[in-house]
Amino acid sequence: MKNNKLVIVGVGHVGSQVLTDALALNLFAEIAVIDQDREKAEGEALDGSHITPFTYCPNTELYAADYDTCKDADVIIVAAGPSVQKDAQFQDRGTLIGKNVSVIREVMAGISNYTKDAIIIFITNPLDSMVYLAGNFFDYPKNRIFGTGTCLDSARFRKIVANKYGVDPKSVHGYMLGEHGSTAFPVWSLLNIEGIGINRLDDYFSLDTPLDKEQIAQNVVETGFDILHLKGWTNSGVAMAACTLAKAVMLDEHSIFPVSTTLNGEYGLSEVALSLPCVIGRQGVEKRLAVPLDEDELGKLRATADSIRGTMKIGGL
Ligand code: 2OP
Repeated sequence: MKNNKLVIVGVGHVGSQVLTDALALNLFAEIAVIDQDREKAEGEALDGSHITPFTYCPNTELYAADYDTCKDADVIIVAAGPSVQKDAQFQDRGTLIGKNVSVIREVMAGISNYTKDAIIIFITNPLDSMVYLAGNFFDYPKNRIFGTGTCLDSARFRKIVANKYGVDPKSVHGYMLGEHGSTAFPVWSLLNIEGIGINRLDDYFSLDTPLDKEQIAQNVVETGFDILHLKGWTNSGVAMAACTLAKAVMLDEHSIFPVSTTLNGEYGLSEVALSLPCVIGRQGVEKRLAVPLDEDELGKLRATADSIRGTMKIGGL
């Protein structure tokens, strides 16, 4: 019988956290780890194997491997390549493009030699450019490739809004769209707390200080860099985002998340990857939802697409 199998490509700070979180899902009977540093991959696999006695899948097989292990993978999570450094500024994800175009070319060549069936979830930055590269140059089914995109930015947004209103972030329905980066924007027009839209929230909640939408949007895009400056890297949030998406695939949830995919004419945009709400299931991206945006949000969507295209151009894409 075929095992449920995850492959993690790249086990730095992010990939190793993905491994820990993936084991806690209790969904995978087999997890293979690929890294250019083979000893590191073996170390992470061995360390991870000592998590399994605490889980409901104590017999999960964990091992370091080469790309041929992808041939029977269900999900592949790619966290390969350098990340932004501790002293980075908030626009700096884009500066990784030079190096990470080569990294992702190598990763996609490796994967697509062995499978076109696995669902590939990207984390590597600059995320949207990496998704475009992977989805458009390797003859890999486009619906089977997506990036964590603004899932993380949206989690940060929901957390900030939830704190402001004193409610559980799970009760805050809203998201950031566009780039995973400095031009991501909150869709205020669709934000609601259990069905109460942004314009009615004042009827139900009294705030100490008025809602400052610009300030919140800025806090969301800067908070990743606050973490970076404090601890030197970010890994927890994005790893949880990737594993939540992997679960949605494995359980064919048809849950809706803002993930990065190559657009196909939505809002008049194509030849660019960015985040829109998407239905995620066993086939990967089952549907992209071009939700109604107001004029201001449409302007921000065009601006974020331009910004991503600027980064892609620097990377020769
Ligand atoms: C993050 O937002 C830096 O992309 C990374 O946590």
